[in-house]
Amino acid sequence: MQNFDYYNPTKIVFGQNRLNELDNLIPQNAKVLVLFGGGSVKRFGTLAKIKSSLGKREVLEFGGIEPNPQFETLLKAVELVRAEKVDFLLAVGGGSVMDGTKFVALAAKQASEHEKILFNGFEPVPVSEALPLGCIVTLPATGSEMNTFGVITYNKQKYPFTTPLVFPKFSVLDPDLTLTLPKEQIANGIADAFIHVIEQYLTQVENAKVQDRFSEGLLKTLIEDGPVTYADNDNIEARKNFMWSATSALNGLIGAGVMQDWSTHMIGHEMTAMFGIAHGRTLAIILPSLLRERKAHKKDKLLQFAERVWDISEGSDEEKINGAIDKTETFFNSLGIVTKLSHYNIGDEEINTLVANMKKMGLTHLSETGDLTLDIVHKILMSAK
Ligand code: NZQ
Ligand code: ZN
Repeated sequence: MQNFDYYNPTKIVFGQNRLNELDNLIPQNAKVLVLFGGGSVKRFGTLAKIKSSLGKREVLEFGGIEPNPQFETLLKAVELVRAEKVDFLLAVGGGSVMDGTKFVALAAKQASEHEKILFNGFEPVPVSEALPLGCIVTLPATGSEMNTFGVITYNKQKYPFTTPLVFPKFSVLDPDLTLTLPKEQIANGIADAFIHVIEQYLTQVENAKVQDRFSEGLLKTLIEDGPVTYADNDNIEARKNFMWSATSALNGLIGAGVMQDWSTHMIGHEMTAMFGIAHGRTLAIILPSLLRERKAHKKDKLLQFAERVWDISEGSDEEKINGAIDKTETFFNSLGIVTKLSHYNIGDEEINTLVANMKKMGLTHLSETGDLTLDIVHKILMSAK
């Protein structure tokens, strides 16, 4: 295990019927901007409940943050925050709204050049202040509610940013708020959370037993309770486990002190930028092909994954590894996720453009060891056709 610092100040308020506690979570004298997406929170009454629990505070609204949040849309929120001297941001939605709100929290403290927030990759944004923010999660998937990351679409490309300044002060995780999700969004969330764990776990053996076993527990929980949540809106216990798995998958705990391989995410972001395919679905297309291509590189960890996560005890090492990758792909398919590019009419020409765009973005040396070059990305995509 490598040296690490671990810090996570986000207070989690987990469980049913907890929205009324918002009153205790936000300063009494705060002027609050509630940010949300395309309208689901209005349609399903969540916004009304939130406003009533905010009591006498002055509350403004900003709706219309789109999936894969757009820079231009968020700038309008920044203008509103600056003009109205808002002092607390409340994100109500999925990853897009939470990420968008994090961006607004940073940008509102800058008079100009807001795009510079996006050009630091995974280095912390070089600024010193942000507005405080809280989250109410309506889609378990990204883990944004308990981490320092955001991903914003600018100039038709997805740009990640990170800084501890945007750790939410609190996040409310009420499984009832997710009951209105279409099944496909539940499936996307399961795939996204599963692959967040995989990208911190399925690297090289480092004898990080706690991180490995937490990761294996999360993967097993997603395999067990993901499909139940997908199939059955009445099973609230399964939904609670799914929800907490998604948050725990990307809150820094399992990634502390271990190598990480975000290749699937980096390729997936480009697929979303080019073709508009939902984030979780892009990952599920890429991961099986990536693991097959990188079998030798990840052999020891793949074997551990086969034995401990998929409980494969029979056969040669090669058979166990193949079995685990096949089971992973079948798991995504069982959630209605197609894992082939042809389903989206993506062929040779589109793959070449995608690889060229990754080059432009400087994404040329991916993986935990930096040796996943663009010719390998090309191979992975060709075998996902
Ligand atoms: O906009 P509304 O009308 O609310 O509809 C949304 C949206 O269309 C809908 N939805 C959300 N909650 C609902 C609901 N519909 C009915 N009932 C509810 N309770 O779901 C749709 C998708 O929402 P979105 O927020 O885009 O999905 P998700 O949570 O998957 O977030 C994806 C975004 O997060 C980024 C992705 O790149 C993408 O932009 N990521 C953020 C990460 C992070 N901050 O750590 C890490 C991830 O890997 C990811 O990259
Ligand atoms: Zn993700």
